[in-house]
Amino acid sequence: MTRIALTVNGSRCEADVEPRQLLVYFLRDQLGLKGTNVGCDTTSCGACTVLVDGESVKSCTVFAVQADGCEVTTVEGLAQGDELHPVQQAFHEQHALQCGYCTPGFVMATISLLKENPNPSEVEIRDGLEGNLCRCTGYHNIVKAVQAAARAGA
Ligand code: FES
Ligand code: FES
Repeated sequence: MTRIALTVNGSRCEADVEPRQLLVYFLRDQLGLKGTNVGCDTTSCGACTVLVDGESVKSCTVFAVQADGCEVTTVEGLAQGDELHPVQQAFHEQHALQCGYCTPGFVMATISLLKENPNPSEVEIRDGLEGNLCRCTGYHNIVKAVQAAARAGA
């Protein structure tokens, strides 16, 4: 086991992890943060996307030990009390989800995309989110949600 210390959703946390433990399972199983989903386990779907030091990362693709000393944000860390993050609010208002399984990953990837490009074109949105897959929506409303979040200054 290896001792790691990191900040998750603003809270300092120390834990012993196996060196082979993936970050997504550390978040879900050791910290109980089940909002980060596993859709493929092979770096394909983006359902497991979180922010590590502000950058979007597929958490099935990195080991928990690689997050040692980092600041990790999951979907649970976005809302302020009852107030949704502007990207969450935009997904809600634009009906950008059906089953919702992909949604936490899309929300986290959108936050990262808008940080890099606060006013993306539709093509830039589709390119920027190409690492996230959705089986339900056809993507149209997801693009509308990202545009709405950009207008809201997310
Ligand atoms: S579960 Fe990580 S990319 Fe699909
Ligand atoms: S809303 Fe069902 S997979 Fe995207």
